[in-house]
Formats: sequence, structure tokens, C-alpha cells
Amino acid sequence: PRKIIIDTDPGQDDAAAIMLAFGSPEELEVLGITTVAGNVPLSYTSRNARIVCELCGRTDTKVFAGAAKPIARKLVTAEHVHGKTGLDGPVLDEPNMQLQPQHSVDFIIETLRNEPEGTVTLCTLGPLTNIGMAFQKAPDIIPRIRELVMMGGGFFEGGNITPAAEFNIYVDPEAADIVLCSGIPIVMMPLDVTHKLLTRKDRVKRMADLGTRPAIAMVEMLEFFERFDVEKYGSDGGPLHDPTVIAYLLKPELFKGRTCNVEIEVTSELTAGMTVVDWWHVTDRKRNAQVMRDVDADGFFDLLIERFARI
Ligand code: BDR
Ligand code: CA
Repeated sequence: PRKIIIDTDPGQDDAAAIMLAFGSPEELEVLGITTVAGNVPLSYTSRNARIVCELCGRTDTKVFAGAAKPIARKLVTAEHVHGKTGLDGPVLDEPNMQLQPQHSVDFIIETLRNEPEGTVTLCTLGPLTNIGMAFQKAPDIIPRIRELVMMGGGFFEGGNITPAAEFNIYVDPEAADIVLCSGIPIVMMPLDVTHKLLTRKDRVKRMADLGTRPAIAMVEMLEFFERFDVEKYGSDGGPLHDPTVIAYLLKPELFKGRTCNVEIEVTSELTAGMTVVDWWHVTDRKRNAQVMRDVDADGFFDLLIERFARI
């Protein structure tokens, strides 16, 4: 199986991504889960990651707490979407699993140094703080990365936290800038993709019909999570952002995109965290990311439900 580190700020949709990885042990080996502050503060994201592991019976997973705040800015959180805990919805027990003593950043560095070069994939589901810090602290790990697949950004679709910016990039634009400038192979799942993946009633029902405890808990999470978009925009459900990262590793053919230049806005206040995507190649700047724009939504939900059934 492909070796991955999941860097995350759970988040109901992060939880769905972690579950998708756990449901795919033949393809993916989760070397560790590293948490970061984002949707909610670090104490909650670190708690939530362990709750998801326990819910899936994967208490063997190593969970590391990482950065409590962005590299150069004050933390912005999203309780208005995810609730106070970040996993609002179901009634969940506090985790028994312990956090690993190591900091996320040091785990990322150590793993990339110890594993054979070009074998470890970074899956990022939150602000890129831990990765940016690891690259600053240990630049030698950069060429050792196989690929980084991130949920972040938005281009034709615009932003979801400001008119210009998507949440994960907005929270820590400096970290995102370090990553985009690093030269590693990057796949980006922006809002242009994730807004096509709505938790429609028929899809959630298929999940509920699985009848397992993790599936039911996930349904209760998604029912909470989607109320924001349903109430505010009258949409057909909430956008399932983060599982796109894992789905890409399992079935890349579900997604369509282009390799192009992506720059991160770090100076302007109005457009901070904007992902400036050169979709039409109007510049000759380096094509540093494969940016996805389309997804086979039915195929995505089939995959999700098939893999949730295995947990
Ligand atoms: C991203 O921000 C968070 O709210 C979600 O978990 C996702 O990672 C979407 O903009
Ligand atoms: Ca997230």
C-alpha cells in the first residue's frame, strides 16, 4: 500500500476523509495522523482525530498534535460551520487513546527522513501550517516527498471564508505559499471540485443504510455539517471537501484538471489567501500544481459508501 500521512483539522468532512482512508487498507497505509489548528483550536482537532480512530476501531493509529496557530497570523476558526467541538452532531465519547509525545512537525520530518525517498505522500485537509513549518525547519525532506495532495483553494468558484479565499489557505497563506513554492508534486482539490459533492439526502441515506456505528455517527455529523449550506444557500446538502484528497489516491480517474501555475496572495488584506490559478497559461510561470476542476460525483459517492462499508 501507498504510505500516507494525513494532516488534518477535524472537522466533520476531515472525519469522512480519515474514514475513507481507514476503509482502504489495501491501497493506503496511514503512517500517522498529524493535527493542526483550523476549523477549531488544536485541543479539539487533536481530540477529534482520536475519536475518529476509535470510532473506526483503529486505535493502533499514531496521532500527533501539531501547530496551535498559523506561521505568521492569528488563528481564524470555523465554529459557524463545524460547531463548537468541530465534530458536532453525534454524541461521542471522549477518546481513550493517547496523543503521541512528538510534535507533528517532528514526526513529519523524521518519517520523511527514515522512509525510502519518494515513498511518502502527504495528504493535507486543513491549513498547511505543519507542512510549511517542517519545510522551513528541515528543507532536506522536500525532495524526499512523493506527492502532496491538498484540499484547498478555489478559483472560478471564489472563496468560502472571504470572497477571494478558501478557508484552509486563508488561515495560513504563508504556509501555503511555502508549499506551493517548494517544487514538490502537488495535487490541489479546490472548492471548484468540492462544491460539486453535496451530501444529498439519497446519498446520506445510502450511508445510513450501512447501519454500522461509524456510518451512523458519520451521518449524524454530516446532518449537522450540511445545515450551514442548506440554511444559508438553500443548497442540496453540504460540500464534502476533504474526502476528495483520499478519493484521488484511490481513484484518480474520478477527477479532471490541469497542471498550471498557482500563486498564493500573502500581502493584500482584501484578497489574503487567494489562490491565483493560471488556468489559461497566460503567464510562463512555473506549472507547480495539478489543479482539479471537475469530478464524477456519483462515482465519488459510490467509492465513499463502498469503503465505509468495510469499516
Ligand atoms: C475546508 O475548510 C474546512 O472547513 C473543511 O474541513 C475543509 O478542509 C473547506 O474550505
Ligand atoms: Ca479540513
